[in-house]
Amino acid sequence: MEKRTLGSSGIEVGKIGLGCMGMSWLYGKGDDVESIKVIHRAIELGVTLFDTADAYGPFTNEELVGKALKGYRDQVTLATKCGLVVTDREHHTYARNARPDYIKAACEGSLKRLGVQVIDLYQLHRPDPEVPIEESVAALAELVKEGKVRAIGLSECDVPTLERAYRVYPFATLQSELSLWTRDALPEVLPWCKAHNVAFLPFSPLGRGFLTGQYRSAGSIDRNDFRANMPRFQEENLKTNLGMVERVEAVAARSGATPAQVALAWVLAQGEQVMPIPGTKRLKYLEENLGAATRELSAADLAELDSLPPPAGSRYQVSP
Ligand SMILES: NC(=O)c1ccc[n+]([C@@H]2O[C@H](COP(=O)([O-])OP(=O)(O)OC[C@H]3O[C@@H](n4cnc5c(N)ncnc54)[C@H](OP(=O)(O)O)[C@@H]3O)[C@@H](O)[C@H]2O)c1
Repeated sequence: MEKRTLGSSGIEVGKIGLGCMGMSWLYGKGDDVESIKVIHRAIELGVTLFDTADAYGPFTNEELVGKALKGYRDQVTLATKCGLVVTDREHHTYARNARPDYIKAACEGSLKRLGVQVIDLYQLHRPDPEVPIEESVAALAELVKEGKVRAIGLSECDVPTLERAYRVYPFATLQSELSLWTRDALPEVLPWCKAHNVAFLPFSPLGRGFLTGQYRSAGSIDRNDFRANMPRFQEENLKTNLGMVERVEAVAARSGATPAQVALAWVLAQGEQVMPIPGTKRLKYLEENLGAATRELSAADLAELDSLPPPAGSRYQVSP
């Protein structure tokens, strides 16, 4: 797979990564044996960037990823996160904690669960409104100095926060939601990243699966699935949002791709600094999604996709 660079860290990764969250968290119970097969197949197909977090499970996703990557350590770039603490596992609620002492302790926990000596990319899952971002970033930077972490990144930050953080340390990446139905990063945040050599890692690039056309009614979503409570997946909004999926499907049909590949190709077309991390726990979706790495959308298709209307419904019911 073609490579892209994780910003100032210089670490090269396959341009499509694998988000491992859904193997253990939010979207129904995964089968660990199958998930491990997905991770191994991803490596065979050129994926090198694997994303997890201590909050996923909590903790079990890091353990799963650590187990799967045993024996492959030198072939992969392992990315994890700290700073979101699960407060209610059943309802998937979180508190934020980005205090320096917490970050240091969280890193030790992640190293242990992942079974590694060093984390390639350690990301702050969310800024903590109770802690100046400068203090959180300084703690992450100390982990680099101590050799526990190779590079650091942030997640879901606005430009003023990025500016403040960057003055403390030239972090390598920003992870944030970016897809055909979440384009908020395009006017300011992504240009800021490009100007500062910060790689942008789009999360939920398939719109949490919606853009693939797989979810056509709210009733098809299990009530324990996180999406059952997300505004865009509520029946009225979902019906409106299907209009967007139909247009993605039309582009897919005329370009000989699948809707998932079109959604990912659009994200990849946002620039060399962009490396999406689509999530799946199924081999067939993995193989389909990685097919996007060689899909180039025509100028007409890109223009058609750029002109899609914004979706009905906000991203979250309660933002983590
Ligand atoms: N930083 C943050 O705050 C944050 C937030 C959310 C996610 N993330 C990261 O981003 C990664 C990806 O995001 P995500 O998992 O939320 O959303 P996503 O990648 O947009 O979508 C994942 C969902 O789409 C389904 N899917 C994947 N490929 C498909 C295909 N080809 N056809 C039909 N359905 C398909 C998956 O199904 P199956 O589960 O059945 O395979 C899963 O339900 C996560 O794994 C996580 O690492 C980070």
